[in-house]
Amino acid sequence: MADMETTPAGEETLEAKLEAMLEIEKFEPPEEFREDALLSDASVYEEAEGDWKGWWTAQAKELHWFKEPTEILDDSNPPFYRWFTDGKINASYNCLDRHVQAGNGDRVAFHWRGEEGEERDLTYADLHRDVQRFANALKDLGIGKGDIVGIYLPMIPEVVVAMLACARIGAPHNVVFGGFAADSVRERMEFSEAKALVTVDGARRKGKTAPIKQQVDDVMGDLETLEHIVVVQHTGADCEMHDGRDVWFHEVMDKADAECPAEELDAEHPLYVLYTSGSTAKPKGVVHTTGGYMTGVTSTHRYVFDLKPDRDVWWCSADVGWVTGHSYIVYGPMGNGATSVMYEGAPDYPHKGIWWELCERYGVTLFYTAPTAIRACMKWGVGHVNKHDLSKLRLLGTVGEPINPKAWLWYHMVVGGERCPIVDTWWQTETGAIMITPLPGIVATKPGSATRPFPGVAADVVDEREGKPVADGQGLLVLKRPWPAMLRTLYKEDERFVETYFSRFGKETYLVGDAARKDKDGYVWIIGRIDDVVNVSGHRLSTAEVESAIVSHQLVAEAAVIGQSDEDSGQAICAFVTLQGEAVEGSDELVEDIRAHVGVRIGKFARPKRIIWSDDLPKTRSGKIMRRLLRDIADGRALGDVTTLRDPDVMSQLEDKIKEEQAEG
Ligand code: WT7
Repeated sequence: MADMETTPAGEETLEAKLEAMLEIEKFEPPEEFREDALLSDASVYEEAEGDWKGWWTAQAKELHWFKEPTEILDDSNPPFYRWFTDGKINASYNCLDRHVQAGNGDRVAFHWRGEEGEERDLTYADLHRDVQRFANALKDLGIGKGDIVGIYLPMIPEVVVAMLACARIGAPHNVVFGGFAADSVRERMEFSEAKALVTVDGARRKGKTAPIKQQVDDVMGDLETLEHIVVVQHTGADCEMHDGRDVWFHEVMDKADAECPAEELDAEHPLYVLYTSGSTAKPKGVVHTTGGYMTGVTSTHRYVFDLKPDRDVWWCSADVGWVTGHSYIVYGPMGNGATSVMYEGAPDYPHKGIWWELCERYGVTLFYTAPTAIRACMKWGVGHVNKHDLSKLRLLGTVGEPINPKAWLWYHMVVGGERCPIVDTWWQTETGAIMITPLPGIVATKPGSATRPFPGVAADVVDEREGKPVADGQGLLVLKRPWPAMLRTLYKEDERFVETYFSRFGKETYLVGDAARKDKDGYVWIIGRIDDVVNVSGHRLSTAEVESAIVSHQLVAEAAVIGQSDEDSGQAICAFVTLQGEAVEGSDELVEDIRAHVGVRIGKFARPKRIIWSDDLPKTRSGKIMRRLLRDIADGRALGDVTTLRDPDVMSQLEDKIKEEQAEG
């Protein structure tokens, strides 16, 4: 197959084959895979369903507990559920000490690969040593149990060290994705009242260096709650160190004691806060605790990916700054003692085949990525994939957004050599762990469907009005019973937590925020968000957040942001902008200026792909912007009901505008 398909004629053959395969409805688990799978008997679903608390308890018992829990679920005050309440546990202990004690200290935890080709293998023993030192260093700075520690680092081993050091002493971390701008970091440090921030001198991206510490300094100066900034020396980028506030990571490490036993924490001790986008401009601080979260991530990582820790090489291509990285780069894989790949760089740097080169080099057997990335690889062509020996791969996964069947089939054929099952895993920052997914040795897959709930999970599709189950059709996705890895609340916003997730159908039904369809076989097909959240390349953004960034530009009077369907990124940001003063149209420079402004306020990934100048925006009589109409117009759909608009003419003007734009190409 290899050479044939690197030629244009080969691409044509592939295209024809993909088209033909679109007809296939179901893919059974490959026999060879099933025979060797950890779970291959469908009875696991019934057993878990019959005694779901018992099922989760059995999963919890796979972990190390200083004190095993006897109370499984405290559901006395929904929706504030508590799991394994009388147990004592530590996540860092489970990710490190346990494996070292079992004689696996020499096992590689991460094959780290830097952007410029540097390589570092970190064993469990190495990380056990570094994490203890850094935990002591944090203590030396006065950080203790319950203090929040911000982490704003690129994909370097220190990010794992920092997270696990926090977990070791019971200081919840608040990681901010490296792609967010410093302004967003400040906001998150402020909301969570972080006492310290661990960051880096500079970060590399495609051959350039971003002066991260400098950018952080520009915005963090007057934040009084932030007492310390620890700086990892990574690129050698110039940075000023402020006396009394800033310290170098390597210096505090040198001074710290070598031994730091893991704190025996309550199962419900908060492990981390992770900010995610919601319906309003203010991000939500999702709180995860220790025992339940660890139970959820280790069990799903083991069974969904059929992990054999002594044989497999795992690679989750996400950034550690998103929940996918927390759960499936750090806590799940390390809790299970897996060997992983961690890559600092972009998928197209130094070349478009780098992922596959690394898969071959490290013998990756299990690979987990986002549909957007698969679509990008499709565009770059099979040549980049076929140059490399991917015969060790035995399972593929996707996450983050619905995958279109054609991308699924391409992944299956070109990357998976038609022999690897694909697990399309649905979950969220809030759910902590995978919730809807095939078990690869049991469930037949259908391209584009996340299939069925993980054992013990009660997911359903219900009608909008009454919340009654929909048998074969579309509705809202809900989760009808608590699960161990669920968020416990929104940081310092209990009311918002109840309001956002548990007001629509009562305190015992979690409203996901996604629309979904259930087919005749009971398979779940995720359609997309029902709130004002946009999913750009698997990155979650709130329209309100982007709007407020645009409006803060001095020439802008008003803005409305929508997610528009996009071939590459799933959805793309499209902004309708009204300028200050008389001018309706802005220049091309202003478009770039507004985009750059959003880049600085939120992060480059939030920049609008398209800006449409508009004299006015469609509003209801009470002044609410009708985004539904804007979505219709941007996607070129027929307009729905416009009679409730304050000024129906606004829409026809906008329509003319879009037509003009399309005519211009
Ligand atoms: C939203 C959650 C959890 C990892 C990354 C995103 C969408 C997630 C899938 C999937 C269709 C998916 C949903 C969800 N989503 N996985 N397999 N198929 N849609 O986490 O940023 O919290 O976003 O991502 O819309 O609600 P997140």
